Amino acid sequence: MRKKVLFVASECVPFVKTGGLADVVGSLPKYFDTEKYEVRVIIPNYICISSAWKEKMNFVTSFYMDMAWRSQYVGILEMEYEGIRYYFIDNEYYFAGDRPYGYIHEDVEKFAFFSKAALSILPVVDYQPDIVHCHDWQTGLVPVFLKDSFHAGEFYAGMKSIMTIHNLKFQGIWNIPAIQDATGLDMSCFTSDKLEAFGDANYLKGGIVYSDHVTTVSRTYAEEIKTPFFGEHLDGLMRARANSLTGIVNGLDYGEWNPETDQKIRKNYSKETFRTDKVKNKTELQKELGLEADKKKMLIGIVSRLTDQKGFDLIDCVMDELCQDEIQIVVLGTGEERYENMFRHFEWKYSGKVAACIYYSDELSHKIYAACDAFLMPSRFEPCGLSQLMSLRYGTLPIVRETGGLKDTVEPYNEFAETGTGFGFTNYNAHEMLGAVRYAESIYYDKKRSWNKMVKRAMEADYSWKSSAKQYEELYENMLNAAI
Ligand code: ADP
Ligand code: GLC
Repeated sequence: MRKKVLFVASECVPFVKTGGLADVVGSLPKYFDTEKYEVRVIIPNYICISSAWKEKMNFVTSFYMDMAWRSQYVGILEMEYEGIRYYFIDNEYYFAGDRPYGYIHEDVEKFAFFSKAALSILPVVDYQPDIVHCHDWQTGLVPVFLKDSFHAGEFYAGMKSIMTIHNLKFQGIWNIPAIQDATGLDMSCFTSDKLEAFGDANYLKGGIVYSDHVTTVSRTYAEEIKTPFFGEHLDGLMRARANSLTGIVNGLDYGEWNPETDQKIRKNYSKETFRTDKVKNKTELQKELGLEADKKKMLIGIVSRLTDQKGFDLIDCVMDELCQDEIQIVVLGTGEERYENMFRHFEWKYSGKVAACIYYSDELSHKIYAACDAFLMPSRFEPCGLSQLMSLRYGTLPIVRETGGLKDTVEPYNEFAETGTGFGFTNYNAHEMLGAVRYAESIYYDKKRSWNKMVKRAMEADYSWKSSAKQYEELYENMLNAAI
């Protein structure tokens, strides 16, 4: 019999995306062995999901769910898309707004509702998963509700749960009285061995404590989060759960991200044709963004949420020095005002050399991955990172800080052995980063043959979901066997 798995998450490509979480939830389910596994996905039916998708959803049914002292409307919509069944939990009060996330005090209530609703709809839609696979803090209460009350019901009794940490920095923290009021959980759940951390309620901690297994999105990050620097105050808990903590690196949807077939880029290319064809994407992008038209100039790309996590203070520190070099920089991102304005400022100061696109555009992101020569990602920490995988796939060599998933996926260039797929630096230091960029420049300008060979190696590196989906299957298998 096929094993049933349920993904519960707050975002999912192609319906709604703010970061890599959506890419993972939208692609991993497609890569399981369909003879052994059936995977379905539950996400909220946000008002901000485009009407083109909403038109394709079918209304299943609705009911009222007890949530502490309230009774809340739960609508269920469903859609079959690329072989996967998706459920969308409907509640216009909670899922209004132009973005999935807003103020934390509202989000904690919203995702408490979502987590309980995700479990509550299962008998209604007649889907009884063997494993409930939860993603990030927004679903941290799912394992809590499951063990605390749902397990008592026959339908839920044997269900196992997994908590996948995509980013330990975001934990869903708010004061205990408000969370107790919103969730209806007994006060005995809010102790330091359960949901409480440093005096507050902490959703992700709840998920980590109550789930049967914990995973995160790269091996290196799985080790890093056991240390105080990366542990975001939960490193003790991560050490305590070390025996049930696995790091599985993310993959990429190779159907969606493929320079040979990508409809969003100017000129398709392969690992055979990139030498002549990739550059056409560069000249087109230079024209589109008002950069100086020069196909020989090394073009460095950045596509990112503009937050502290991504290392933009390093760029701020050495941007003036960097802009003296023979390079161009294109940035696509939104986030903290400080970094948005920083890039706007550099675009003004180095007009024709720096392009700052301070907005969200999936289409432009494809063009940037295809057009650039190198991709800069100097993250302070990086659980996995998908942007560098996209860059590798498009033969755009990543320059990364060697942390988390960046360390696991980008092999630094070794000019003696002629190995590697990108460039790395170790310490969180602006001039170390500048050194790595300048080293890349020297290879690009002075050793073009070596550069091109590296591009080929990057395009050949396999970061499809194939091997990572297998590792999740093995984990599911072990958990289910352990249960017998
Ligand atoms: P994170 O999840 O921490 O933001 P990842 O590297 O895992 O980092 O994933 C980021 C994803 O979001 C990538 O698919 C990247 O292309 C995309 N992305 C980030 N900012 C933008 C933007 N402004 N426009 C389009 N895509 C973006
Ligand atoms: C988080 C992390 C990122 C990771 C993504 C998907 O947003 O910041 O490193 O790739 O989740 O797992």
